[in-house]
Amino acid sequence: MFKTGSPVKGIEFIDRVKHIPVFEAYLNNNQHVMIKAPRRFGKTSLVKHVIESQNSFTFVYIDVRRATSLKVLSNQILDKAYSFVGVDNFIHKSKNTFLALYKTLQSIKLGKIAEITLEHIEKDSDETELFLHSLDVVEKIAVKLKVNIKFIFDEFQEITNIADKEILEQLRSVAQHHENITYIFLGSIESMMTQIFENKSSPFFHFARVMPLEGLDIGEVASYIYLEFNNRKFDYDKKAIMRILDFLQGHPDYSMQVFQSIFYRAVIDNEKIDMNLCVEVLKEVILENRAYLDELIQKAKAKKHLFKLLSAIANNTSTDILPKTLYNSHVLLENMGLIKNIGRGKYELVDLFLKVLLQQNNKNMLIQSSNLQIDLSF
Ligand SMILES: Nc1ncnc2c1ncn2[C@@H]1O[C@H](COP(=O)(O)OP(=O)(O)OP(=O)(O)O)[C@@H](O)[C@H]1O
Ligand SMILES: [Mg+2]
Repeated sequence: MFKTGSPVKGIEFIDRVKHIPVFEAYLNNNQHVMIKAPRRFGKTSLVKHVIESQNSFTFVYIDVRRATSLKVLSNQILDKAYSFVGVDNFIHKSKNTFLALYKTLQSIKLGKIAEITLEHIEKDSDETELFLHSLDVVEKIAVKLKVNIKFIFDEFQEITNIADKEILEQLRSVAQHHENITYIFLGSIESMMTQIFENKSSPFFHFARVMPLEGLDIGEVASYIYLEFNNRKFDYDKKAIMRILDFLQGHPDYSMQVFQSIFYRAVIDNEKIDMNLCVEVLKEVILENRAYLDELIQKAKAKKHLFKLLSAIANNTSTDILPKTLYNSHVLLENMGLIKNIGRGKYELVDLFLKVLLQQNNKNMLIQSSNLQIDLSF
């Protein structure tokens, strides 16, 4: 329980009672889907939980953020696709045991497509061509196996960083002919995902159903926590737990980190779970995330004005940044996934721990849990 550090599924998976049936229905209808939510909000968990809990799906999972180039991405797709017809390590074999591979492929009877793959590899074709071809291979193999393959592009918005800007148009024109693939696009930079899938002039406009993923339902998380704590006969204060859950706004990752720590404190130190313990742990967990939060801060500091604006948003104060620069700075911060628009000209920090950090008065002092200020009054 309260697992942290990697995507969760099965009994570790809490809530999403509203999202699961919708997502399942889309999958069963072969409807392309786009899921957007900030970092660490449980996108990968939701998809893995649903797809792996129903053993019946054949799927390809690709994390675009991990690929350094379109070629690397294509090779991963080809390896996975050919593994469905019993050929493992396709790319490796194509370079080392070409003839044996050629014979195997002939016996599988995939038609021309496998020959085309080998030609691309031999010629070291343009990486965009190879990438689009790799998706055609997935389609051909799905048709041959008479299945619908679920194709998950995690961190999809990153594709614009590793490919030319025409990639979206090219991808759309190829993907629209794939009748045996259901595309699932996940992304954590919401402004970019919105731009790609919901902007009328984007090639992907109306291509996929959009599913925004909010925080976990606080009531559901509370029930899960009470059940776990009751099972272990912990002494706990429900009010304190609700306070902390409200503060965490259903953030899946931070909620699991905080309640995992509270759990260990109760088990190891035999402590009563009251308001004092909860606040102490909350502060510790915020500081445990310091390396990640500092990374976000460094990103904002890389460009002029951005950090100043980010701090001003966190503290709800104004800045002396000129209007034109202000507009561009907001766009840049949004495209870094650091802020979100919450109404006309109004912005909010995406990461609630980052907000806490930027609200500290003692900017120059070493922040420790003893002097970290948190506002829990609402
Ligand atoms: N439904 C859930 N039940 C319990 N914990 C969850 C759930 N969803 C997410 N978590 C917690 O949040 C963490 C992050 O989840 P996950 O990796 O799925 O998010 P993500 O949106 O894919 O993140 P990233 O943007 O980093 O890829 C998990 O390690 C887990 O601790
Ligand atoms: Mg993820």
